[in-house]
Amino acid sequence: MTLKTRREPAKTQQPVMELIAKRWSPKAFRLEIPKEAELISMFEAARWAPSCFNNQPWRYLVTTREDPEAFSRALACLTEKNASWVQNTPLLAFQIMRETFEYNGKPNPWSGFDCGLAMAQLILQAESMGWSVHVMAGFSRDRVREAFGVPEGFKPLVAFVIGIEGDPDTLPEDLKESEMEPRERKPLEEIVFSASWSNRMF
Ligand SMILES: Cc1cc2nc3c(=O)[nH]c(=O)nc-3n(C[C@H](O)[C@H](O)[C@H](O)COP(=O)(O)O)c2cc1C
Repeated sequence: MTLKTRREPAKTQQPVMELIAKRWSPKAFRLEIPKEAELISMFEAARWAPSCFNNQPWRYLVTTREDPEAFSRALACLTEKNASWVQNTPLLAFQIMRETFEYNGKPNPWSGFDCGLAMAQLILQAESMGWSVHVMAGFSRDRVREAFGVPEGFKPLVAFVIGIEGDPDTLPEDLKESEMEPRERKPLEEIVFSASWSNRMF
């Protein structure tokens, strides 16, 4: 399947799956909202992520422009900078993390890891259907708690947008340039070790 994107695919050191090479985090989005069946596929993909003790600590709060009141309530939780571009997107959601194991009520140190895996699956499923996802840490956890009645024991972990890549000219001036900056990563030599720490594997 050929995925449409205005970005060049990542310049990877070795070939990787097309979905991974083409995924990126746009800020300019079109206003179309994913259909319910498409959203179900994305959350279904997230649902099947592995997790410690199969605890499945991920929960989601989703708002779309179809419900402008809820969408504005979500938008008001973001930092000013994030809100400046997210206000022109179709869907704003939060991933909420259960902090304890269900089987014994003790703190689960792997909840964040599990939620990250679920988000990666959601992102790749979305990408495979032509949708992009942009994850954000720039929001107020307390505001999300208050605005959406998140119960004790659950922590708002990340905010995210789902939409179709849009025209960078619709972005505020200060964000236009960064939208097309080259995407970079640390080389494998710096991140994979063998036999001992800093002894590069590749
Ligand atoms: C946990 C997390 C928090 C992030 N927070 C923000 C954010 O607050 N605002 C933003 O514009 N992008 C945010 N990003 C997006 C990253 O900046 C982006 O993924 C990174 O620069 C790599 O670019 P790429 O996703 O296009 O490969 C966040 C990503 C992650 C995973």
